[in-house]
Amino acid sequence: MTVLITGGAGYIGSITTRLIRSTGRAVVVLDTLENGHKAAVGDAPFVQGDIADSQLVEQVCKEHGVDEVVHFAAYKAVGESMENPSKYFQNNVTGSQKLFEALQKCGVNRVVFSSTAAVYGTPTRVPVRESDTLNCESVYAETKLMIEKTLGWYSKVSSMKSVVLRYFNAAGATEDSTLGEDWRHSQNLIPHVMKATLGHAPTLKVFGDDFPTPDGTGVRDYIHVEDLARAHIAALDYLKASGESITCNVGTGFGTSVMQIIEATERVTGKKVPFEIVGRRAGDPAECYADASLIHHTFGWSPEKSLEDIIASAYAWHSSHPLGHDS
Ligand code: WQD
Repeated sequence: MTVLITGGAGYIGSITTRLIRSTGRAVVVLDTLENGHKAAVGDAPFVQGDIADSQLVEQVCKEHGVDEVVHFAAYKAVGESMENPSKYFQNNVTGSQKLFEALQKCGVNRVVFSSTAAVYGTPTRVPVRESDTLNCESVYAETKLMIEKTLGWYSKVSSMKSVVLRYFNAAGATEDSTLGEDWRHSQNLIPHVMKATLGHAPTLKVFGDDFPTPDGTGVRDYIHVEDLARAHIAALDYLKASGESITCNVGTGFGTSVMQIIEATERVTGKKVPFEIVGRRAGDPAECYADASLIHHTFGWSPEKSLEDIIASAYAWHSSHPLGHDS
């Protein structure tokens, strides 16, 4: 029983790879290392390559006895996707379709797919349910939805079964501070908060405080990356037990504002977070947080880590790894 993990050298991919291995499953990581880091893979079996290289994927599946897949590999910079759409459609969508074609040839029929809450765009209501309107507001989000739909058709016309996990805001680092996000390549809030707190940026820019939210700043559902990794294990177990294809939100079900993140960071670290209020960022909804009841009822999964765990683990990681895995 070997799990092929595409994009397993990335932030969420590397943390999930480590957890999958701890359950006794064999793995093989496929990553171009374009954005991922070899150090994050540790001693896991690794192949440097592209999901679009069908011959390589088939060779890896045969050589390693792959029978299930966790598919992370993708470009995920929302802003870049709007400036260079073809790069995103080619890499994310065409690459995934080539991957699935190779898996079909090898008879690999269980896929867990890394999708995103961004497919909801500005939610029509919060908490967001899987059946709510899908309203992609970026090319990045659209590529993720196109891959979801591709998997949906494979479920209908072949024996491939998939679990689509729509991540809300993944954050934090491993408790031992050995794996985490690289703030040099991230646009996300928590790395930017840590950068300002640790003096690697003059201030945190808060994108707007005039939203219709309790304190005027944006509200999101921050889920600890280790809780997110556990959701992938639950999805693999579910498919192994012949579960039908399903799409699930992965979040805590709670919304937290930017100001609340700042306050929690000051409380947990004992340091001031220098920040300034600037204009809103294009495309930012006021609120987006999950209704996570489906994943709980289907897999029995629930988040176990708190917001303080997210902040403390992120702070410890960034303090010791200001240059990510190049530190
Ligand atoms: C969170 C909140 C910002 C940075 C994005 C992608 C989504 C997914 C997760 C991949 C918002 C505010 C942020 C900063 C700020 N990625 N903010 N100053 O936009 O909810 O989701 O990351 O799947 O696809 O869209 O996350 O961390 O960028 O922003 O004030 O320097 O923090 O306005 O309210 P987002 P984020």
